Amino acid sequence: MDDKISVFDVYSESRLQLERLTVADAQPGAGTDVVRGLHAQPKVLPARYFYDDRGSQLFEQICDLPEYYLTRTETAILKQCARAIAELTGPCEIVELGSGSSIKTRILLDAYSALDYPLRYLPIDVSAGILESSASDLLVAYPKLQVHGLVGTYELALRRLRSTGLPTRMVCFLGSTLGNLSPQECEVFFAQVAATLEPGEYFLLGVDLHKDEKQLEAAYNDNRGVTAEFNLNMLWHLNRCFDGDFEPSRFAHWAFYNEPLRRIEMHLRSLDSQTVRLRSLDLTVALQTDETIRTEISRKFELDAIGQDLRGRGLMPVEVWSDPNQWFGLLLCRLDHLR
Ligand code: AVI
Repeated sequence: MDDKISVFDVYSESRLQLERLTVADAQPGAGTDVVRGLHAQPKVLPARYFYDDRGSQLFEQICDLPEYYLTRTETAILKQCARAIAELTGPCEIVELGSGSSIKTRILLDAYSALDYPLRYLPIDVSAGILESSASDLLVAYPKLQVHGLVGTYELALRRLRSTGLPTRMVCFLGSTLGNLSPQECEVFFAQVAATLEPGEYFLLGVDLHKDEKQLEAAYNDNRGVTAEFNLNMLWHLNRCFDGDFEPSRFAHWAFYNEPLRRIEMHLRSLDSQTVRLRSLDLTVALQTDETIRTEISRKFELDAIGQDLRGRGLMPVEVWSDPNQWFGLLLCRLDHLR
């Protein structure tokens, strides 16, 4: 498998190393997920197209919104338990999938540095810009830190991870990004994490929990319209990637809680009957008035059920933390020795 991964654009300084990962044969297939999704009924688009540089900035703004309780609740939990995490794992390399601005990572780095552990951080993100700027900020704030960043998808990065000089590693997947995967994708992802870790190594997972529908819907329909802009921004991104002519002003943001499936769904609703072209994919799509394209699912979890799923993959929960309202959960798992 590894021979398919090519590494290029290596940028290395003594404490900072950045690598961009790509699959050698990725280019010819680029956009097949878009074609498939827009031919499907109902129409869907892959959520990864949210994250161009503008989309990543908008997501950072979402995290600060009063309605978006997820980030501040997870941050508060992390502040409470970071020392316990560091004591449980001992000295370790912190690997973060979808690191973004790495703000929450600072809480972990503070706890590891208070125990005088060596600081090694391996952030993984699809956005090179955000990865480079957050890594540079961290290097200034933590003079003993070593950063080895990987620009690429989780799948590629997990295949690329190697044991380091430190006794163990902890792969962190925070912010309930797990909720953006379907149950099937989630199973594959847990299997990839388990295959990447050595027995005794750690997986730290943050998940948003099922709760009152009103509170959930408010988090994805903020008053300032930042989430709407984030959703519509995907169309600008697709236009750039595939020489398209989406007119975002002819779509509206729509997000609701699908209670039976326990997930928020975000859609783009066509405001009139229209035809859109993505020229480099040779694709023409007709949309009726009020027809929607689903751009994201954001699943909400039960702690017991997710603990069971993890156990089924040999990722044994060692400790589980939550906030007083039980809005969000943080699970520290260790890969079983008996696999
Ligand atoms: C990244 N992910 C966990 C966010 C979520 O809540 O599902 C993305 C997001 N979509 C709209 N607001 C935030």
